[in-house]
Amino acid sequence: MTSNGTYCAEDLADINTPLLYDYWYVAALASEISRDLMERTILDRSLVMYRDEDGNAVILQNRCAHRSFPLAKSNLEQGGIRCKYHGIKYNHDGEITDVPCQSKCPKSGIKKYITHEIGPVVWVWMGDNDKATIDDIPELPVHDMDKWVHVVGKYNHMEGSYILLHENLCDLSHLPFLHASTFKMPEAYTSTAIEVEKSGDRVTFYRKMTGWEELKPFFHPNLDFSGQDFIYKSGGEYITPATNKGYGLIIPLDEDGNEQPEVGHYISHYLTPETQSSCHYYWFLARNYQLDDATYSGAQGKMIQDGFDEDCTAIKLLQEMFDKDGHDYKEIGIQADKPGVIMRKIIKGLVD
Ligand code: FES
Ligand SMILES: [Fe+2]
Repeated sequence: MTSNGTYCAEDLADINTPLLYDYWYVAALASEISRDLMERTILDRSLVMYRDEDGNAVILQNRCAHRSFPLAKSNLEQGGIRCKYHGIKYNHDGEITDVPCQSKCPKSGIKKYITHEIGPVVWVWMGDNDKATIDDIPELPVHDMDKWVHVVGKYNHMEGSYILLHENLCDLSHLPFLHASTFKMPEAYTSTAIEVEKSGDRVTFYRKMTGWEELKPFFHPNLDFSGQDFIYKSGGEYITPATNKGYGLIIPLDEDGNEQPEVGHYISHYLTPETQSSCHYYWFLARNYQLDDATYSGAQGKMIQDGFDEDCTAIKLLQEMFDKDGHDYKEIGIQADKPGVIMRKIIKGLVD
């Protein structure tokens, strides 16, 4: 940041920064992919998704190699898709296996994408297939943890750049304002300093607070930390262009001040650019309290989604402003932007 509060904008990713292809992205919720053909655009590429006869997720280029008819609007048969326009058939690898009016099958040239299903999501590698490594799928281990209850969020479509969404997720300062009526953060949250740490191509950030009476409305009534020493840690981490993580944790302290096992929740965020100015967004919450309380899971899921709907609306408004306003504009920075600024620097560096 320069002394007058502005940034060297050329060092930071913004809504016009080219998209990154050599990464794993969440293509869909596992529950969305079935024996019905589904169309989804990812990184400006139109894709068709379905499951083969063995239940494996298949993702192919959605464009028939003959005259560009969408395969997702065609018919799924045993062994593959038959294009609805002139009946050319593609197998699960995207190869042509039948051309109704001739015996010879040309090479199709349509791309089959590498997928990998983990728990509730299906990942897709958007770069060259020979560069795909399963180990590069970012770890968001909350789905596999024992003793955690998972509140599964719905799929969200964001009418704004994924950079705006990452910035929103790296930004703890908007919570008391944009989410005043949903998340109801305590007054003290706004003024607590934000700690930021960059490690490699990741950024972690958090606020630490104490004071149970203030935090109480934010937690389930069965939790009670009154009279106990604890730290409330609210924060998150930018992990890759496709992932971000948030959490709210009560960390009890014993009489020597040692941290005891945490009580709280993690939210895994999956961001998948659709186009330069829109993205797909999936989230999951995992908590380790009120494990058998399905009613609370429903209410908690709704509260979180109501809040994220506010983010969706805000991001749409930002994108619209970028698109329509002709003023000369230079963004200013405030201290709380630091995690988002580092994230934008990292993404810009990856693109460069
Ligand atoms: S456009 Fe698909 S077979 Fe002709
Ligand atoms: Fe938000």
